[in-house]
Amino acid sequence: MQKTILITGSTDGIGKLVSVKLAGDGHSVYMHGRHPEKLSSAISEIKSITKNDNVDGFVADFSDLDAVNKMADQINQDLLKIDIIINNAGIFKSSEINDKNGLDIRFVVNYLAPYLLTDKVIPLLKKGADPRIINLSSAAQSTVSHEALLGKANLSESESYAQSKLALTMWSFYLAEKLQDIAVIAVNPGSLLNTKMAVQAYGRYWSSADKGADILYDLAVSEGYKGFTGKYFDNDKGSFGPAHPDAYNKTQIDKLIHTTRHLI
Ligand SMILES: NC(=O)c1ccc[n+]([C@@H]2O[C@H](COP(=O)([O-])OP(=O)(O)OC[C@H]3O[C@@H](n4cnc5c(N)ncnc54)[C@H](OP(=O)(O)O)[C@@H]3O)[C@@H](O)[C@H]2O)c1
Repeated sequence: MQKTILITGSTDGIGKLVSVKLAGDGHSVYMHGRHPEKLSSAISEIKSITKNDNVDGFVADFSDLDAVNKMADQINQDLLKIDIIINNAGIFKSSEINDKNGLDIRFVVNYLAPYLLTDKVIPLLKKGADPRIINLSSAAQSTVSHEALLGKANLSESESYAQSKLALTMWSFYLAEKLQDIAVIAVNPGSLLNTKMAVQAYGRYWSSADKGADILYDLAVSEGYKGFTGKYFDNDKGSFGPAHPDAYNKTQIDKLIHTTRHLI
């Protein structure tokens, strides 16, 4: 069955690779990028590789929540439904530390932007068949500092990255409880995959980028993962497994969602 699939951060890395796989199957694929030229060139490339004309895209810089809001409005205007959203866009190294409101850029791009976008397209997901939300977490997860999330304390790049990924994982579990009819999975696609992010952050890689794209593809469309929700898939182990303990702490989750709503 042809599905409507939105993949954020699909102009590079594992997001682009999984877009090729999904478009190759004949699905309607909506890509996303922050640079219009890079996005249109990725769309043309994927159309040409897959011979699938149902590939399109949306532009928004996720370090700007106003732009994310506008993109969500555009999606609600243009699409009739979404079957799958893969919240893949993410940042580790960045020349900018804060957004225009003084918030840490990694919290904004990796957590607040997907939170806002997903929140606004839930009505479209409710119209989807076997709808799934796949959120890109990481093996790096660290207890969220509310001071840092609010932009009142500075963290190192690696610490704010790990905190943003735990925030996304905690929100994923919260959403899974709330949305009985939409599956929500958080996934570590594999550590140090061969992409721009890993190479910029660590100067090396352990595994091919295809390892990450393959698990995103399976979690998104395979029958084998139908019915799984509120879980963390750890692709370093190749199975579902435990996330950071805070992701199972209701008090911490409620506090996080409260602060997030305030920020959004
Ligand atoms: N690689 C790993 O080892 C690894 C491990 C665990 C988790 N992950 C997660 O997997 C996801 C994909 O990462 P990747 O390894 O494929 O890295 P990547 O090659 O650097 O791709 C990241 C994607 O996010 C987009 N992006 C970054 N900042 C953005 C912004 N401000 N607005 C909009 N889009 C933005 C990038 O756009 P541009 O094309 O414009 O740069 C790119 O398309 C991320 O969420 C990452 O945290 C990766």
